[in-house]
Amino acid sequence: MNITNKSPVALVTGSSGGLGLAIARTFLEAGYRVVITGRDVSRLDAAKASLGRDSYVAIACGDVSEPQGAADAVQTAVSQFGRLDVLVNCVGTSDRGLAENLTLERLDELIRQNVHTALLCSVAAIPQLEIDQGVIVNIGSLASKVGARYLGGYVAAKHALAGLTQQMRLELKPRGIHVGLVNPGPIRRDDAGSRYQSRVEEDANVPAAAAKPGGGTKIKGLPPESVANAVLHCVRYRRPDLVLPRYLRLLIAVGHISPRLGDWLLLKFTSSKG
Ligand SMILES: NC(=O)c1ccc[n+]([C@@H]2O[C@H](COP(=O)([O-])OP(=O)(O)OC[C@H]3O[C@@H](n4cnc5c(N)ncnc54)[C@H](OP(=O)(O)O)[C@@H]3O)[C@@H](O)[C@H]2O)c1
Repeated sequence: MNITNKSPVALVTGSSGGLGLAIARTFLEAGYRVVITGRDVSRLDAAKASLGRDSYVAIACGDVSEPQGAADAVQTAVSQFGRLDVLVNCVGTSDRGLAENLTLERLDELIRQNVHTALLCSVAAIPQLEIDQGVIVNIGSLASKVGARYLGGYVAAKHALAGLTQQMRLELKPRGIHVGLVNPGPIRRDDAGSRYQSRVEEDANVPAAAAKPGGGTKIKGLPPESVANAVLHCVRYRRPDLVLPRYLRLLIAVGHISPRLGDWLLLKFTSSKG
């Protein structure tokens, strides 16, 4: 897709690697100018080099869980490209462990990474998004929809993000800003299984399979590109809430109508200690 100095602009937080980088690439290929963010400038430089189209990619290095870092990221988009059409709040951290062993410090850290980042970046972006009648997409998870076992404080943090997303969607609609939530299941990645190994090993009551993406749920890993395409779809069609893979929305709905059946499904299709 041709990009010009008038092309729309997308700011993707947490895009020096993982899903965020795949989202940045998808928007670039769809004709957007893109701002990528992260806390490590060398990772950002490498990510920018991997994207190509140098003059249409800007870097904002900083911690977006801090008000200044969030404001700087938005300011980079406006000062370098003159507008902001899309904010994708992709920064997020998962967790492993039993809820009963969750410390308040760890929960605070997860809320900071999954909720504060989205709130701060959204608040910083609202004035420009209102001018450009833009879209905010928050990256949720299946943990935004159900409370599966062994996910530490991740379920509480992603449920909070889901509630915040809906509230902001309703409040910002009259101002022409759309706010959507994309909820992917486990995503394929090179370090699958090793990332949460130590957290799982710390607790003898957590099954080894919980170290896997999605806490060892029996759902096939999604290619990051398909999740990135769903984010683009959410922007283009102003979709409020997407679940990937799509068939899981039905199971989530069943669980809301019948919590007893929902629990049975979760016990059957997620990892178990025995
Ligand atoms: N991976 C999955 O299976 C999966 C499934 C469902 C949903 N999700 C969600 O998808 C999103 C991305 O997950 P991921 O696994 O791809 O993440 P990841 O690989 O851990 O990447 C996180 C990115 O965010 C940056 N980052 C982290 N904290 C930051 C902060 N405070 N300020 C600025 N940048 C920060 C990291 O760079 P630096 O560390 O260098 O700053 C990196 O670029 C998360 O919201 C996650 O909850 C993931």
